[in-house]
Amino acid sequence: MGIHSATFIISNAKLSGCPQDGLSEYAFIGRSNVGKSSLINMLTGVKDLAKTSSKPGKTLLINHFLINQSWYIVDLPGYGFAKIGKKMREELHKLVTDYVLKREQLACLFVLIDSRHEAQQIDLDFLEFLGENEIPFAIVFTKTDKITQAELGSNIRKYKESLLETWEELPVMFQTSSEKNKGGKEILQYIESINVSLTSEKSK
Ligand code: GTP
Ligand code: MG
Repeated sequence: MGIHSATFIISNAKLSGCPQDGLSEYAFIGRSNVGKSSLINMLTGVKDLAKTSSKPGKTLLINHFLINQSWYIVDLPGYGFAKIGKKMREELHKLVTDYVLKREQLACLFVLIDSRHEAQQIDLDFLEFLGENEIPFAIVFTKTDKITQAELGSNIRKYKESLLETWEELPVMFQTSSEKNKGGKEILQYIESINVSLTSEKSK
C-alpha cells in the first residue's frame, strides 16, 4: 500500500474532540523523544507533517492525520518525560490512557522502543497495561541507524528475552530508521493487512 494523501486534521487535548467518523486508526506511542513524530513523517513521506524536536516533550496533544481519505495515523504525546511539571504529566497520562482504553476505532497501537537501550521498566509496564486491557499493539524499534547491525541483533534478542519473562507470545515487531528511511514499508503492509481484515469483517 502506498500513501497518496496525508492531511493533518486536528489536535486535541481531550478525547471528546477527536474525529467521530468511525474510521480505523493507527496510533504511535512511546517514551518522549523515541521518534514517534519522525516515524509518522517517514511513513507518510511528508517531511514536516508531524512536528519533531531534538528536545523531548514536543508532542503534547492527540494529533489526527487522515491517510488516503480512509484511515488515520495518530501521533500521541510521549510518556516518561520528567522535565514537565507533575500536573502536566498527570494530565498527559490521563489523556493517553483515556485514548488507549476508550477509542474503539483504534485498530493497532504501535509502541516505539529506542533500539539502543535495554528494556526499560516504564515500557514494560506500559506493555503490561496494554495486555491487561487487551489492546492490540505491535512494537517498533527506532533509531536503528545509531547502532551496528550486530548491536541491533543483540539488543532485540535481549528485549525478546525480557518480554518472554511475562508474555507467552511475542508481539509483531518492526525495526526502523527514520533517518535512513528504513522499515516503513513493512509497517504500512501490516496496517494494510489489518485494514483488509476489518473491511471483510464489516461486510459479513
Ligand atoms: P515527543 O513528541 O517529544 O514525545 O518526541 P517523539 O517521540 O515524537 O520524537 P521525534 O520524532 O520528535 O524525534 C526526537 C529526536 O530524535 C529528533 O531529534 C529526531 O531527529 C531524532 N530521531 C527520530 N528518529 C530517528 C531515527 O530513526 N534516527 C536518528 N538518527 N534520529 C532520529
Ligand atoms: Mg512527537
